[in-house]
Amino acid sequence: MKRWFLLCLLVLCEPALAATTPPAAAIATAHPLATEAGHEILAAGGNAFDAAVAITATLAVVEPTGSGLGGGGFWLLHRAKNGYQTMLDGRERAPLAAKRDMYLDAKGEVIPNLSVDGALAAGIPGIPAGIAHLAAHYGKLPLRKTLAPAIRHARNGFAISESYRRMAQFRLEALRASTSAASIFLHENDVPPLGHLLKQPDLADTLEAIAKQGAAGFYNGALADKLIKGVRRAGGIWTHKDLTSYRLSERQPLQGTYRGIRITSAAPPSSGGIALISALNILAGYDLKALEPVARAHLITEALRRAYRDRAIYLGDPDQVAVPVARLTAPLYADGLRASLRTDRATPSNTLPGNATLSAGNDTTHFSVLDKQGNRVAATLSINFPFGSGFVAPGTGVLLNDEMDDFSAKPGVPNVYGLVGGEANAIAPGKRPLSSMSPTFLESKNGVAILGTPGGSRIISMVLLSTLDFAAGNNPASWVGLKRFHHQFLPDVIQHEPGTFSAEQAASLTQLGHTLKEVTDPYGNMQAILWDRKNNKVKAASDPRGEGTATVR
Ligand code: GLY
Repeated sequence: MKRWFLLCLLVLCEPALAATTPPAAAIATAHPLATEAGHEILAAGGNAFDAAVAITATLAVVEPTGSGLGGGGFWLLHRAKNGYQTMLDGRERAPLAAKRDMYLDAKGEVIPNLSVDGALAAGIPGIPAGIAHLAAHYGKLPLRKTLAPAIRHARNGFAISESYRRMAQFRLEALRASTSAASIFLHENDVPPLGHLLKQPDLADTLEAIAKQGAAGFYNGALADKLIKGVRRAGGIWTHKDLTSYRLSERQPLQGTYRGIRITSAAPPSSGGIALISALNILAGYDLKALEPVARAHLITEALRRAYRDRAIYLGDPDQVAVPVARLTAPLYADGLRASLRTDRATPSNTLPGNATLSAGNDTTHFSVLDKQGNRVAATLSINFPFGSGFVAPGTGVLLNDEMDDFSAKPGVPNVYGLVGGEANAIAPGKRPLSSMSPTFLESKNGVAILGTPGGSRIISMVLLSTLDFAAGNNPASWVGLKRFHHQFLPDVIQHEPGTFSAEQAASLTQLGHTLKEVTDPYGNMQAILWDRKNNKVKAASDPRGEGTATVR
């Protein structure tokens, strides 16, 4: 009787065990057709990694402003059956003929836009290698199946949106400068009308070559010939060796903890994981939930200031520079940074040692996937600027990136964004430019989050704000809809969206010594999923600022 009673007590008092598999799959991407492509592949028996292949390729077709076969990115993976986590590093590499001063004139001055527009701005793409690697090592379905939706949309066309038109207007001159790009992405050499059907037969052929031959369909053979010929004719410096020697790297993701939440995020050559974990380590010393909004925004700003300062000074391609990852992400190191922080006053950036910050582009894309087995993908992919370099090598349909602008063209000298770069991120042959892309998983005893966003150097602060919102117990709709603010050490200003702070809050922050700057350009496009394991529910949300969709099925 006594034993029976004890057993009952145990069963009744034991909290509900967290679910081990999600009740539904979820996909959040920046374009409805990419979300559907992912679900189509899950329905065909694919796993989250197969869906990621389909989504990556479909985004390359239907969101040419953000990513594509001519770009690079990071895929953060979690395999449910053994908990294995890895980051596929498909970041672009500088061509082997790249030189440290390749964007400088005879006087050593940076030549405006040379690292932004045209063939010389393009690094060696990594997305085709990423697609092939994902399929070969993690997926269940063949590429001919997973690339089918993308090929279909490239051949049959898709209707362009208002956001496409805005970006095409922004990059009109760069697109006009490339006859191939203009013939694909413009209509009669101008911004196409809303609803214009954009067909990309050359890109469909390129995707078919990858479907048949894997990475070799892009980096070798006829397509490689066309890429090299087109790039070199347009003043670029790519060689066949650049393409055949491109290798995707698998890297161990970075991990940290914040108030019981395990953070898994991008490793170098992204600065995302280090800066995110470092800022959270600093903030772990405060009870943010108990603070009123101004004190909270002040502390977040001061943490970001210090994390971005380190990013600027120490971070670069880990294959070419020594990046002190363990030190920068150690809680003890954050204790030291926190000691310099005053709660009653902003620390002017110029009173902290170090004087550099780094550039990062302002377009890009992110998607998140969870399948019913619990496999996860968070992927942030980029061609850098909207429409990348604006250059398409004739006959390929591949819009090339301008990721070379993520290097510091001349350490210490501002780039086109008014930002200056550090020594660790100087240009060198075969080197990967430093990135801010931060695909991230968050895990607490209650649930798992999959998130990320485009947005250049603001990516990290957006992921940080959403992490704090996850810690506060809120849902994906809240994380993606949050009003955003950002500080990146230099320039020494808090950038914020309209309406982030009330007039009184703005006045209080100014009183503390901060300078505020309202920004009206597109501010992020977060795609997020929550698997609430305690209640075994799946929720997903797509940023209201974008045109993406998030669906749970
Ligand atoms: N091009 C955007 C980034 O890598 O941060």
